Amino acid sequence: MLTLPCTRIAPRMRPARGPCGLISRSLSLERSRMATSPIASPATLSPQIRRWAGGLDPLRSAVSVRPALSFTSRLGGLPRCLSTATDATTAAPVAPTAAAVDPNSGTHGQAEPTTRKVVGYWLLASAASVFGIVVWGGVTRLTESGLSIVEWNLIRGMKPPTSEAEWIEEFEKYKQFPEYKQLNQHMTLEEFKFIFFMEWGHRIWGRLIGLTFILPGAYFAYKGWMSPAIRKRVAIIAGLICFQGVLGWYMVKSGLDQALMEKPGAVPRVSQYRLAAHLGSAFLIYTGMVATGLSVLRQNSLRAGRLASLAPLLNSAQLNRLRGSTHGLAMLVFITAISGAFVAGLDAGLLYNTFPLMGGRLVPPTEELWDPHFASDPATRSGMLKNVFENPTTVQFNHRVLAVTTFTAITAVYLASRRLSLPKSVRVTLHSLMGLAVVQVSLGISTLIYLVPTELAAAHQAGSLSLLTATLCLMNFLKRVPK
Ligand code: HEM
Repeated sequence: MLTLPCTRIAPRMRPARGPCGLISRSLSLERSRMATSPIASPATLSPQIRRWAGGLDPLRSAVSVRPALSFTSRLGGLPRCLSTATDATTAAPVAPTAAAVDPNSGTHGQAEPTTRKVVGYWLLASAASVFGIVVWGGVTRLTESGLSIVEWNLIRGMKPPTSEAEWIEEFEKYKQFPEYKQLNQHMTLEEFKFIFFMEWGHRIWGRLIGLTFILPGAYFAYKGWMSPAIRKRVAIIAGLICFQGVLGWYMVKSGLDQALMEKPGAVPRVSQYRLAAHLGSAFLIYTGMVATGLSVLRQNSLRAGRLASLAPLLNSAQLNRLRGSTHGLAMLVFITAISGAFVAGLDAGLLYNTFPLMGGRLVPPTEELWDPHFASDPATRSGMLKNVFENPTTVQFNHRVLAVTTFTAITAVYLASRRLSLPKSVRVTLHSLMGLAVVQVSLGISTLIYLVPTELAAAHQAGSLSLLTATLCLMNFLKRVPK
C-alpha cells in the first residue's frame, strides 16, 4: 500500500492557521480532495395456551392461566485509512481531479470507485422491508399460521390455490400433519385459508426481498457504483438472504415432524433453536443493511464536506467511552432479542405472568430453574445446561435478566451522555434510544401480563428491531471525522 506524507506530495496544502490556531476550512477541503485521490488504492387459551398446556406438566410450574386477550463528513479530507466507515480505504494523498470530489461520479479517476448515494438509500429501503417481514413473521407465528404450507418449492410455491378443488387439496395435505391432528381438528376451510395466506404472504415477501436485493445489487455492481468493500458486504448480505430462505424451511420442517405424534407430551411447534436461528439471521441481515446503508451515506457526506463542522466534537477524547459503549449496547440488544426468540419458541410467555416477581419471588427456586427433567440424562443429571434453552421457566427468567441488564445499560449510557457536548444527531438518537427502551420494556411486561396477545407481542418484536436501529444509528453518528 502506497502512503506518502502530505508535505512531500502537496506542499501547497500546508496548514493555513486561523485565528485560534485551528486548521482552516480551506485545508479541510484540500484534504478532502487528497482523500479522493485518483491513485488511491482500495483496502478497505388461545391456540398458544393450548399448545403450551399440551407440552408442559402443569404440576411442575407455577402457571397462572388467565383468558388470553386475543387469539391469538466537512473534513471530507480524510486519509481514508482513518475512516471507520465500512468501505474504509487507504488513500495516498495526491492532487484532486473533478471526478475525485464528486461522490456520485461512479469512479474516481482511473482507480477507485466510490459508492453512490443511491446504494445507501436502496440498502435502507431493503432494511425497511426486512423490518416488515420480521414483524409479519411474528404475526404468522402468533396466529399459529406458520405450519399451514407443508411443502417448499421456490417457483411453484408462489402460486396459491385458486379453485375450490385446489383449496381442498391443500387443506388435505395440511391434515396429514401433527398440528392439524393434535390441535386443529375442528378447523374449517375458511379458517385454513386465513392461516395459509399468512404463511404464503411471509414466503412471497421473502422472495421479493431476495429479488429486490439481488437484482439491483447486481446492477449497481455492474455499473461500478459500489466500492470493492461495499460490494463485498452486499454480496455477503445477498448470501445471507438466500440462506435465510433455506433456514426458514428447515425451521418449518421441525414443526411438521411426524415423530411429534409419538413423543408423549410433544407439541406441534417449530424447534425453538431453529426459530432463534431464523430470527437471529434476520436480525443480522437487517444489521448489515442498516449499518452498510448508513455508512455509504456518511461516506458521501464526508466527501461532500458536510461533516467538517462536527469534527471538533466527534473527534474529542470525551466521546471515546460513549463510542465504545454503543457497540456493547448493540450486542446486548441483539442477545436479548435472541433470548426472546427462545421465549417465543417455547411459548414461555404463558407462564409466570407477573413482573418483576415470578411466583412471588424475584428468582424462581433453583430446582425449577435447574430441573433434571430437561437434562440430557435426568438420572445422572448430565447435560443440565439444556435448561438454559429448553426449560420455559429458565428461558423466561434469562430473558428478564437480559432485558433488565439491557435497559439498565441503556439508562446508564444515556445518563452519562448528558454531561457531554454532543452533535444534535447524536443527542436526538440518544433520546430516542432511551424512549424506545422504556417502550420496549413496557411492551414486554404487558405481553407477559396479558398472556401474549398477538398485537402486543408483534409490537414487542418490532420494538426490538427499533431498539437495534437506534443503536446502529448511534454507532454511525458517533464515528470520528477523519483528519
Ligand atoms: C431490551 C428489552 C427487550 C428486548 C430487546 C426483547 C426482545 C424480544 C424478542 C425479539 C422476542 C421474540 C419475539 C418473537 O419472536 O415473536 C421477545 C419475546 C418476548 N419477550 Fe421480550 N424483549 C425485551 C424485554 C422484555 C421484558 C422486560 C419482558 C417481560 C418480562 C419481555 C417478555 C417477552 C415475552 C413474554 C416474549 C414472548 C412473546 C411471544 O411469545 O411472542 N421482554 N422479546
